[in-house]
Amino acid sequence: MAPSVAEIQSNDSHKVENVVTKQGLPVNPVEDKGPSYPFYVPYFDLTEKFPPTEVLGQSIEFSDVGLRANPAKPNLLTPDVKLHHLSPYLGTEVHGVQLSQLSKEGLDELALFAAERKVLLFRDQDFKDIGPDRQIEIARHFGHIQRHPTSGNVKGYPDFHVVYRDAQHDFFKDYLGSDRINHTSWHSDVSYERQPAGTTFFFILDQPETGGDTLFASQVEAYNRLSTEFQKRLEGLKAIHSGVAQVELSQRLGGPVRRQPVEFEHPIVRTHPVTGEKALYINQGFTRRIVGFKQEESDFLLKFLFDHIAKGADFHIRATYQPGTVVVWDNRVTVHSATPDFSPTFRRHAVRLTPQAEIPA
Ligand SMILES: [Fe+2]
Repeated sequence: MAPSVAEIQSNDSHKVENVVTKQGLPVNPVEDKGPSYPFYVPYFDLTEKFPPTEVLGQSIEFSDVGLRANPAKPNLLTPDVKLHHLSPYLGTEVHGVQLSQLSKEGLDELALFAAERKVLLFRDQDFKDIGPDRQIEIARHFGHIQRHPTSGNVKGYPDFHVVYRDAQHDFFKDYLGSDRINHTSWHSDVSYERQPAGTTFFFILDQPETGGDTLFASQVEAYNRLSTEFQKRLEGLKAIHSGVAQVELSQRLGGPVRRQPVEFEHPIVRTHPVTGEKALYINQGFTRRIVGFKQEESDFLLKFLFDHIAKGADFHIRATYQPGTVVVWDNRVTVHSATPDFSPTFRRHAVRLTPQAEIPA
């Protein structure tokens, strides 16, 4: 059995490369100097309240900027840009683009490219250093930014959704509990909103040496794998997506509830407004019930679909992080899961900006 961290450190502290946690995970050998970007450390103000943005009969103005993009993408994919596709179905690593420098036309093309490839990994970006106002300005090009009802944000900047884990703050454990066999948790961000997330930005500030990847699955390919007969059965069905459990968890943990939770019905198969692709639009995180089905029928069908999505490793990718990585993905046609497979002695700190898209149809 491996010795404990304390035993190794006290007996032979210079052999830090061999130090592991009780779970066998490597411990960060570098002395902790705190977050690299303290401005973005999650902020929880229990008195912060947002007005309801999602009330029946009201909608947020939205027109996908990808609709007006030049399909050749001359402003985004210039001749010196290098692309590396991670899977035929989704995921492209992009080298040679600086997101902060893109013109309005380039950002339109980014929306189209993100819809087509579903997940884009931009390396060596200065995005994390351009300041909150410019970051928000870029993300707003893609839609009204969702303000999260419960997660950490940034003081004075409620548009940011902060993802943070370190030795003192293990939010994964709080969220998923400690008695799970694995920590895979497939979801599409804030699918409980009337107008859920579209083109989404996620930029890393601190990352472990290894691990902390994000798993993504193509919901278009998940739909395409189904038989024509089964696809026909799903057409027209709706499911209820709920934000209630998220709010209840925050209440249990003493966290904020900035807006009362909402539930909305969305079609199980939605069509992307730019590409015309059909995608499954259900996810284990927020989809609770198929409308019009009895409980057991709903449970049975949702379980089949959740299993199908989770097991489809041939339409999954892993997004990896390096300093300066920005991931842009389309939440309408993907689901994703964090992988908390690293010791919390490594800090993982990232920020999401979540523009809302159309009412799913
Ligand atoms: Fe997420």
